Amino acid sequence: MLTGKRILLIIGGGIAAYKSLELIRRLAERGASVAPVLTRAAEEFVTPLSVSALAGVKVHRDLFDLTDEAEMGHIQLSRSADLIVVAPATADLMAKMAQGLAGDLASTLLLATDTPVLLAPAMNVRMWDHPATRRNRATLAGDGVAFVGPNEGDMACGEFGPGRMSEPMEIVAAIEAQFAHGPLSGKRVLVTSGPTHEPIDPVRYIANRSSGAQGTAVARALADLGAHVVFVTGPASVPPPAGVEVIAVQSAAEMAQAVQAALPVDAGVFAAAVADWRVAQASDRKLKKSKDGLPVLEFAENPDILATVAQMGAGRPRLVVGFAAETHDVEAHATAKRLRKGCDWIVANDVSPATGIMGGSENAVTLISDAGSEVWPRMSKDAVARQLAERIAAALNG
Ligand code: CTP
Repeated sequence: MLTGKRILLIIGGGIAAYKSLELIRRLAERGASVAPVLTRAAEEFVTPLSVSALAGVKVHRDLFDLTDEAEMGHIQLSRSADLIVVAPATADLMAKMAQGLAGDLASTLLLATDTPVLLAPAMNVRMWDHPATRRNRATLAGDGVAFVGPNEGDMACGEFGPGRMSEPMEIVAAIEAQFAHGPLSGKRVLVTSGPTHEPIDPVRYIANRSSGAQGTAVARALADLGAHVVFVTGPASVPPPAGVEVIAVQSAAEMAQAVQAALPVDAGVFAAAVADWRVAQASDRKLKKSKDGLPVLEFAENPDILATVAQMGAGRPRLVVGFAAETHDVEAHATAKRLRKGCDWIVANDVSPATGIMGGSENAVTLISDAGSEVWPRMSKDAVARQLAERIAAALNG
């Protein structure tokens, strides 16, 4: 969560500057306020108008902007921030920082402050590897400047190697880590949530009654303890929590793919109500009424996402938590399910209609582990989530 955090974002002049627009959106979603600064060169890649429209505030561009000097001043601008992020950090900006130059607004802001600085470098691979840049990197690291990336990959200039700017969500995670506190800070946790929709044709699907409320509450509670939460959600009826990385999916197959892409994680919590079957041959055209009778749907089994992750060898999360929604013999079914799926814990609950739990705001769960079963009193889904998050933190730190 970045609620109330003030981030001064300096956008340097490189092709990766376009990614800073996405970064502003992601930071705003998490409750941060972003004060953007564009270098002259950056204006060749993104316009001040698009940056200010996304940030919802004026863009700072010029050291000698007299209005700014009267209203706030460049010194004030850099000191009022909780963190300065430079993305993309070009070779030129890094060299200026390492030398303590202050010839323009961006470099002056960086020199006039003791606010922590995070750089997301982006440059040609030869520039990154050049002895001059290596020296500057070492100098900056010695000054306490933090880095995220660069990544290795194909570059806009046609070459391959380290130099690509980190993706916006990687930068967000690095920013969160700068502010992180709480027992799960530095931990990456996956949460699946919500129902899945299994298509029949482009307009029809098979769904279930899951609202996603319990999974959403768990994701929020984990983020509140400082975790970086990857939240893979089907089409739920409650909105996703703030402060988590949201990956929206429709079907079980898409959810399975998103989960694989999110690994490795320290812990996985599988709260989604995943459809057990999909329509084997979903039609890419709308099924029409026909004189020949009713359509016959054939089903195929969906992958068991929880079991796949729980039973993977190398790279298995340290803690895998499943949910079991049962309507009768809750403890016996859930205990068998834990062993069958190979997860560490099962959070079991009784969803028979008389309990009012499915779609309601309360839950009564039994936590099943290899130590046996523990019945929790009936409480709000938020309270179940907080208690579960505390237990996960204790397990990961134990
Ligand atoms: N689950 C999953 N992928 C599936 C089915 C279930 O990841 N294809 C996960 C759920 O997110 C939950 C757990 O498995 O954490 C148990 O789900 P549940 O529907 O209760 O189990 P089933 O495997 O469907 O067992 P049964 O039909 O016997 O109740």
